[in-house]
Parts: sequence; C-alpha cells; structure tokens
Amino acid sequence: MLRPTCDFQPLEQFMTRDVTFHAVLQSLRLGLFDTLEKGPYTAEQIALMYGFLPEPTEALLDLLATHNLLARNGDGYKNAPLVSEYLVSGSTFFQGTAMELNNRFNQYIVSEFMPLLKGESQARGRTDDDWGNADTMRGTLQYAILGALQDTVAFIADLPGFQSFRAMADIGGNHGEYSMALLELNPNLRSTVWDLPGVVETAEEHIAERGFSDRVTVRPCDLRTERLPAGEYDLVLASHVLYGFMDDLPGFLGTIHAALKSGGWFVAQHMNPASDMPPKQKCSLEFVTRMVGYRTHFISRDQLESAMDAAGFQNFRTGAAGRNQCGLIVAGQRT
Ligand SMILES: C[S@@+](CC[C@H](N)C(=O)[O-])C[C@H]1O[C@@H](n2cnc3c(N)ncnc32)[C@H](O)[C@@H]1O
Repeated sequence: MLRPTCDFQPLEQFMTRDVTFHAVLQSLRLGLFDTLEKGPYTAEQIALMYGFLPEPTEALLDLLATHNLLARNGDGYKNAPLVSEYLVSGSTFFQGTAMELNNRFNQYIVSEFMPLLKGESQARGRTDDDWGNADTMRGTLQYAILGALQDTVAFIADLPGFQSFRAMADIGGNHGEYSMALLELNPNLRSTVWDLPGVVETAEEHIAERGFSDRVTVRPCDLRTERLPAGEYDLVLASHVLYGFMDDLPGFLGTIHAALKSGGWFVAQHMNPASDMPPKQKCSLEFVTRMVGYRTHFISRDQLESAMDAAGFQNFRTGAAGRNQCGLIVAGQRT
C-alpha cells in the first residue's frame, strides 16, 4: 500500500487551533475565567456551578491547561497569569472585547469569502459603519492600551514645545483616549476628535464618562471628502488611520499640513512592515485588512516620509509603539 510522504501535522494543527480558539472564546463568554480567578476548582465543581456534564467540562479545562491558559494543582484548575491579566473581565488590560472584535472580522470574512475576493461585497462601507458600535470602540481601546497608546503618548510628550501646545486634532480618534492621555500631561491642551458621523455619539458618551467633555470635542467628518480647518492646530495625530487614505497619501497629508499652525507637528502611528511582529501574524492581519476593503495595513517609513516630504513636512522624527514594536511612529513639522 502507498504511504503519504509529507507530514500531515501542519494541516491538522489548523483544525485543532480553530476549535481551541472557539473553546477560549466560549469560556470567556461563559465567565469561566472570572470564576477560575477565584479558584482553584475541580472539574466536578465547575460542572456543578454551570450545569454541565463532568466529562466534557474536564476535557475543556484540560484543553485550556495544555495551552498554558490554566494552571493545574492536583485536581484543581485556576487561571495562569496570562489569563488573569487579559481574560478576566475586571482586569485593567482585559482583551475580551478586542478578541470578540477580531472574531467578528474573521467571521465576516468566512461568510463573505468569495464576494470579498471578487470585490462584489461593500466591505469598506460595512467596516466604516461598525466604528461607532460601543463594543467595537471598547475593543479598539483594549487593543490600544496593550502598549501602542502609552508609547505614542510618551513620544508626543517628548516633542519640542509640547507643553506650549494648545490645540490638537485627533483624526479618526474614535474613543479619544490618545487625546485624553495627552491632555492629562498638558493641562492647557484641548482636543478635537474628528471621526465619521456614526462614531460621534458613542465617542461623546465615552469621553463624558472619563470626565473630559469640557476639553475634548467630537466632530463628524469624512476625511475622504472633508477638510480640517486651516492653520488651527499645534498637533495633528493620526493613529491607525492613514491606511484608509493610501489611494492618495501625499494629497491627504497635504490637507493635514494645511491644518497645522506654523511650527505644528503631525504624528502618525500605524503598522510597521519592518517590525518584529511574527510573519504569520503580519500576513494574517494584511489578509483581513485587504479582504475588508483597504489597500494595506502596513506603511513603511520610507514611503510615509517621502509622502510627508512631498506634502511639505520637515524635521522628521521616528519611534516605535506597542508589542514587538509593531507600530511605527513618524512625526514631521510644518515649519
Ligand atoms: C482603527 S480605528 C483607530 C482608532 C484610534 N485612533 C486608535 O488608534 O485606537 C480607525 C478610526 O478611523 C475612523 N475613520 C475611518 N475612515 C475615516 C474617514 N474617512 N474619516 C474620518 N474618520 C475615519 C474610524 O471611524 C475609526 O474611528
């Protein structure tokens, strides 16, 4: 009898990874990690609490434990530190809503695979409509505070003259947290978050909850067709927004240049193609991005600096943001 020559294992892994991801997501939805934060609990105790059968419950806990998400102590299971930090709902760095957001994108791609590949689906419009959804906003923020927000804010606070900045624009600012973190470092600074009309109400509610309504204004605009007011800002920030303007990047940057006061700074943060993000993760992110209707999620430093140069910016500065330094920060000044 013939025997296969290649190892089937890599293909088998795709299937097991898929079911494992769903086991994690469902455990999250059940509040299992919140329960296990108070553990250790045995499989029988968990099964009793949730009204589950003991055998599959034990297998679920073993599956999570074998992926180092739970720690086993005799018969008891409790959260591993990774889960305590990211998957327990009260944790500062809870990522549950961000994971749901990613899952929604993935499910959409699965259900619309062929129409998206053929360009027959209105993916970009659907993505735009989703940014004002409260869960999408929460998920976007959860992802930002993994490090990109902290690094970008520290970079901006280090720009020459930061303490004399009075007005900033946070384009595609969404939750407004980048603005609010900067306002905390400069009590004389005010921000306008410019975002799509569907985002305004949710953003205003979030900003009010954080107590910044008197210093952060949210304005509706579609930056593909509308312009910022001219000569208005000491700082314009674009965090994970430029990838939506790749059709005419120099033209878009020209409109930002015009919105700055003389001496004002533009700071962009976006995905860096040259970062240490694992290649499989890069390819997967790029695949999702292009399927949902954008040209790319990655803009190289050279590409951005030459477009900024063409738009009239000078005095370039660069930095890195987030895990694996996956975010590239590029700043330029209107002189
Ligand atoms: C990936 S989110 C980035 C949110 C935030 N800046 C951050 O880094 O966490 C992209 C944001 O850009 C906004 N956006 C997308 N296209 C836009 C457009 N044409 N005009 C204005 N805002 C836009 C979206 O509504 C969304 O709030």
